[in-house]
Amino acid sequence: MLTATCAALTAACGASSTGADAVAAANPTQVEHGRQLLERYHCGTCHAIPGVAASQGRFAASLDGYGKRSYIAGRVANEPAALARWIVDPASIVQGTLMPSMGVAPADARDMAAYLGQLR
Ligand code: HEC
Repeated sequence: MLTATCAALTAACGASSTGADAVAAANPTQVEHGRQLLERYHCGTCHAIPGVAASQGRFAASLDGYGKRSYIAGRVANEPAALARWIVDPASIVQGTLMPSMGVAPADARDMAAYLGQLR
């Protein structure tokens, strides 16, 4: 099941021109935009995120050093496309997760993933 999920993720993202490749090419503008979006979507209500205003949430894990994490929610490899997918629809990766789907546009999720991915 888990393997199938990973395969599906890889296939879906690999087929898209906006998946891992787009984030791998993350530039400073994208990273800065991602930082602003993390504020705008109020991710900090639940998470502590370095560099993001009003992000002292204690409901969920701190995202400090997220770029060095091996797994997203302990389930799938922490790669940019999977991270963007998580931000758009967490339940598609962890069924029944307490993280809500927040109506994030895929392009916004990619920029946020770019920001989180460069946190060391
Ligand atoms: C209502 C509280 C809440 C909000 C708002 C929220 N999250 Fe989460 N988030 C959680 C919870 C709870 C988890 C743990 C989910 C799990 O492990 O199943 C989580 C997990 C995560 C993880 C994985 C953490 C890990 O340990 O691997 C990331 C990344 C993340 N959230 C990013 C975001 C981003 C980006 C936003 C804003 C778009 C956001 N979250 C908004 C509650 C929230």
